[in-house]
Amino acid sequence: MEKVLPPRLGRLRFRSSARCATAVRAFTFCLFATGAGAACCASSPAASAAPGTPVAPVAPSAQAPANTLQVLHWWTSASERKAADLLAARMADEGLAWKDAAIPGGAGIGAGKVLKGRVLAGDAPQVTQIIGASVAEWAELGLLLDIDGVASAGDWNGFLFPTVQKLIQHRGHVVAAPLGIHRVNTLYYNRALFARLKLAPPRTWAEFEAAARKLRAAGVAPLAQSSESWQVAALFENLVLAESGPEFYRELLVKRSPAAAADRRTAEALVRLRIVKDLIGREMEERPWPEVVRQFARGEAGMMIMGDWAKPELAERGMALDEDYGCAAAPGTARYHLYSVDTLTMFAGANRHRPAQEKMARVLVSPSVQADFNALKGAVPVRRDADPARMDGCARASWTIFAQGAAVQAPSLVHRMASDEASRDAIIAEVHRYFLDDRATPAEAQRRLGALFRLFNLRSQGAPGA
Ligand code: GAL
Repeated sequence: MEKVLPPRLGRLRFRSSARCATAVRAFTFCLFATGAGAACCASSPAASAAPGTPVAPVAPSAQAPANTLQVLHWWTSASERKAADLLAARMADEGLAWKDAAIPGGAGIGAGKVLKGRVLAGDAPQVTQIIGASVAEWAELGLLLDIDGVASAGDWNGFLFPTVQKLIQHRGHVVAAPLGIHRVNTLYYNRALFARLKLAPPRTWAEFEAAARKLRAAGVAPLAQSSESWQVAALFENLVLAESGPEFYRELLVKRSPAAAADRRTAEALVRLRIVKDLIGREMEERPWPEVVRQFARGEAGMMIMGDWAKPELAERGMALDEDYGCAAAPGTARYHLYSVDTLTMFAGANRHRPAQEKMARVLVSPSVQADFNALKGAVPVRRDADPARMDGCARASWTIFAQGAAVQAPSLVHRMASDEASRDAIIAEVHRYFLDDRATPAEAQRRLGALFRLFNLRSQGAPGA
């Protein structure tokens, strides 16, 4: 059977199974390679199409009516479902049908794998939640539709935050529609428990430890926390930011400098991670994030550190902000914003879907969808002209701090804002390993991170065009 490969592989229709297998292998390598590997693929002779060139892979889902868009995303908790449903309803108002393809797994762990499989099978969805550095990785393969026309007609640069503008562009083309900004350095505390034990929300990690000890002495778990790898790494990135601020954070997790890995501040974050683990004690299991939220909502833990997507999930469990629980910055990070920006990308290839894809992109950034979607999602608008009076106190603090600009912003490694997928996965695995194994020392973890960073650096230097 004739097989058509994705556009970046040279717009070729392979009839010979041997040629097809070779190209599929090359494409598989591209998809699973590090950023350096992907760069090498992108400049290989087989991949001569310009990034973003819309060439049609034969996609079963492309046979759907032109105004039906299949949307692959990872919003599967009860509150996330409601936020996605709102988008679907707004699409319907515009005559577009949203065909849902939700893949469970916090932080997109499942969705990323399913997407790769579907693209390899020539069955890319028309719209996909791809965020952060992953946008550039997919765009480099020429798979994403450029929506420059929509962005310039709508003057997106006139109202988007500069950080958001950068996240949606690749090689000067707009290739993603931005939805909302999440704050990952958010601390939740149970107000009744804190009042009963006369505790104030901790502003530093030393205060956090003192509060945790009091909660433990009262028979309450101090922190609702999962041992799932991405959730452990989220705690670590919060600790790095608190120990050192955005500049060092970037040295360590964006530039991945071996000197930063060996630095005292990395050691301190690792030591603190172990202390927090000891304070949490036995209650910690590997659980999806909505279960962690439920533990906190049941009053079984005094605090929780999680992105602000937890807020609507708490509302689902009957918890009201400022009444049942309080929201503050994670200890030591009040001045900073550890962010994850959600974006939807449009897959290139099915030209008859293009008008619908462009219309959807236009609707997503409109002021009313931005305000209503983000209120349901727990995030804040990507627009500088949003109205903070329409936000709750937690969201207002997030939006106001983010608006201060890059100096106070830190891109979340866990949520793909800081690095390519392969480096991210390797760093998360290393931090997780250290967290689980009490015999692993901070110095050893630092050495291993340093070795990883040297390897990443070598790879990017070796990449053609690097
Ligand atoms: C983030 C995403 C959020 C939320 C969270 C938990 O990557 O930005 O929208 O889905 O993961 O899964």
